[in-house]
Formats: sequence, structure tokens, C-alpha cells
Amino acid sequence: MKHLIDPTDLSVQEISEIIALAEDIIANREKYSEVCRGKKLATLFYEPSTRTRLSFTSAMMELGGNVIGFADAKSSSVSKGETVQDTVRVINCFADIIAMRHKVEGAPLAATEVSRTPIINAGDGSHSHPTQTMTDLLTIKRELGTLNNLTIGLVGDLKYGRTVHSLIKAMTRYENTKFVLIAPPELALPDYIKHDVCDRYGIEYRESNDIESVIGDVDILYMTRVQQERFTDLDEYERVKDCFVLDAEKMRGAKERMAVLHPLPRVNEIAIDVDSDPRAAYFRQVENGKFVRMALILKLLEWQKDPSRQFDHGGKDLGCKCSNPLCISNLEPVRRRFETTDGTTRCVYCEWKAE
Ligand code: CP
Repeated sequence: MKHLIDPTDLSVQEISEIIALAEDIIANREKYSEVCRGKKLATLFYEPSTRTRLSFTSAMMELGGNVIGFADAKSSSVSKGETVQDTVRVINCFADIIAMRHKVEGAPLAATEVSRTPIINAGDGSHSHPTQTMTDLLTIKRELGTLNNLTIGLVGDLKYGRTVHSLIKAMTRYENTKFVLIAPPELALPDYIKHDVCDRYGIEYRESNDIESVIGDVDILYMTRVQQERFTDLDEYERVKDCFVLDAEKMRGAKERMAVLHPLPRVNEIAIDVDSDPRAAYFRQVENGKFVRMALILKLLEWQKDPSRQFDHGGKDLGCKCSNPLCISNLEPVRRRFETTDGTTRCVYCEWKAE
């Protein structure tokens, strides 16, 4: 069974196939309008969403399929205490493919342990958001024509921003990727991404305290919202919420050929005077999200029948506990899965260290 839980669940070749299919869908919409006739997508959204849920819904409808699901866990039996794995066992009786968003990190991976249909991670807590990454990759390819030799500025909430974590993991596999990290110390990129991802794959990164001094160096400026919902201390949120704001004045220093991306929603981090700049790609990025999800649904349904497709996050019970209070392994009765690399033992569900 092929699932998409982390961007690295897809090989570079598989990512290229999905991007190529998305581009073909864009060019030949009519050709794909019936290809999922009789198929059902279940959208299980335990956390709020506008783009991801509705683009999945729109994607399946444009493929001629149907959609069931919930947009709010309170309206499902989860509110009565049903576990993620039991919910998935039930949805397997109704749908051919599942897209799940959950505030608990590792919940979609736990779902794969029992599912008879492909599971797509539509965002798990602060951890990962691989379909946003597929959207970002298609957008970068369409805006700049390549995924190689790019310098990417990542701005804002690099601690809780799951889209940033997933994008970094995906981009390490392309040639000569460089990152510029622009975040306040409180919202710095987690160590496991800096060291276990960037350092391990020899990816060059540098840190900066402002947008102005680096904007002329980047091919992509990836803006993110400071994620209020992840803070336990709201005073800290107030201190950092408007730390970096992109405006038309700052855009004067940018390359002529570059693109501003944002997974959206935005709050204050991009002034509306940037919207009319041709390099502002964030609303085109939203539409790309629908096309790439159409391609992903088609490919996962096809690959489900191919036993040679790999999906294996590994890990075993090493008798330890995950240090992340928001990890599925600490909140629901799932088996514990840990892996030790370079002397550090991490939880397979959320990538936090073992206690
Ligand atoms: N980009 C993104 O995940 O947006 P939503 O939260 O609206 O789905």
C-alpha cells in the first residue's frame, strides 16, 4: 500500500511523475473529468482548513469522483472518544482513499498501520504537510522552470510551520539547493531539520535577522504565518507575531525573476501592496494545489495496485517514550516506534527525541 505521510515517501521520480501529470491535467482538463467515476475520497479534518480540504474536494469532483467526510472533529464520533485507527477502519468501509488533517503529530502515520486504502497526510500538527509541498514544488516549477540550483528564503515561523519542514525535506533531493532562514530565535527551525536533514544531506543554509539584506539573493521567498494556535504562551505570540513583514518597498531589492510563495492563510506577513507584483505567486500557488492533488489522487489509486511501490517508516519499540506531548504515541493506544540514527533515538511518528 502506498501512502503519502512525509514528502520523502515519494521518490524524486514519483514526484516528477505527479508534477508531469498535474501539468497534463492543467493542459487537458476535459480528458480527466470522468477518470474517478465511482470512486470516493474521504476528507477527515480534525483541524481547521480552507485550502487543503476544499482543494481536495474540488480535485476529486473534477476527476468525476465523490467526496465524504467531516470538517470538524466535533461533528464526528471522535467527540465520543473514537481513536484515529478505529475511525480509519470504519472509513475504509466507505471510501477508496483518505485525506487526513490532525492536530496530533503522527496521527496519519498511525492511520496507515490499519488502513486498507491509501492515506494522505493533509497536515499533522507542526510536523509535516506533504501535499502543500507538492503544491509548492509544482508552483516553483511553473514559476521558475526548474527545481534545481535554487536559493530559498524561508521567513517567519520556522518552528511550528509544518509546510517549511516538509519543503526543506523535499528540496534536499534537488541539485544545489540553498536555504536562508529568517526567523526570530523563538521560532527557529527545529534541530532535527537543521542537523538531521540539512547537515546530513550537505545542504547549505545561513541565518538572517532581516528580509532586506537577503531578498536580492533568493529565487524563492517563502513567507509563513506565525501560528498562534501552536503557542502555549500568548504573550510570546504577541511579541513575535509581526516579526517579518514583506511589503512593496522590500520587493524593490528582489531579483526580477523570483517568486514569493506563501502556503496561506496570511495574517500580516505580506502587505497587500505586494499582491499586484507579478512575482507574487501565492494565489497561483493555491490553484496549483488543486491540480497537484488531482494528480496525487490518481497516482495513489494507481500505485495501490503495484506491490513494488515502497512505503516503510520503520521503527520498533525500544522501551522508551516520545518527548512530544502532542505525539499520537502519547495520546492514543498505538504501538511505539523509534529509530536510532547517529546516536540519537527519535520517535518515528513525530521525529521528536525519545525521553
Ligand atoms: N495551506 C494550507 O494548509 O491552508 P489551509 O490551512 O487553509 O488548508
